[in-house]
Amino acid sequence: MNKKVLIDEKTLDERVSELAEEINRDFAGEKLIVVGVLKGAFMFMSDLLKKINLDTEVYFLKAESYGRGTETSGTVKITKDIEADIAGENVLLVEDIIDSGFTMREVIGLLGQRNPKTLKLASCLSKPSRRECEIDIDYLGFEIPDEFVIGYGLDYAEKYRNLPYIGYIEQ
Ligand code: IMP
Ligand code: MG
Repeated sequence: MNKKVLIDEKTLDERVSELAEEINRDFAGEKLIVVGVLKGAFMFMSDLLKKINLDTEVYFLKAESYGRGTETSGTVKITKDIEADIAGENVLLVEDIIDSGFTMREVIGLLGQRNPKTLKLASCLSKPSRRECEIDIDYLGFEIPDEFVIGYGLDYAEKYRNLPYIGYIEQ
């Protein structure tokens, strides 16, 4: 299998810096609860956090969607929840990619019910052409075409998460 680069390391780093600057500006002087969605978001979240200079707390949740192969089914289950009470807090959700939007609809619905002061979404990638439900992305890295991507946290059958770039597999 031949791996091709879609977004290289330097481009990712520069965009992550821009997003972090925006977040630092938007939440200046405030506390921010950063919630990563496992597993795909771990690398983007780690790079983003290193550039955030706010008072933060870090948590993870895990959302799994039950579908076939690379397609989501729309049935999303939260299989690991955060440990923190987020009522009255600024919450930043961090996700790897918004595809159909089903996962984020579920996660935003769940956290939204807990009365956070603000609930914002940062996503490294978005595939707008695949959207099934509307999702507002407050801090978006890159829009990409309808191509199955790997690396920088994203997997294909649990492989390739460690690649430092966003790539795709040429058939
Ligand atoms: P959604 O619920 O369809 O928006 O799917 C979001 C989840 O599907 C992401 O968090 C990823 O885990 C996974 N996903 C969607 N597209 C890709 C891709 O191109 N590569 C790897 N994982 C993907
Ligand atoms: Mg994911």
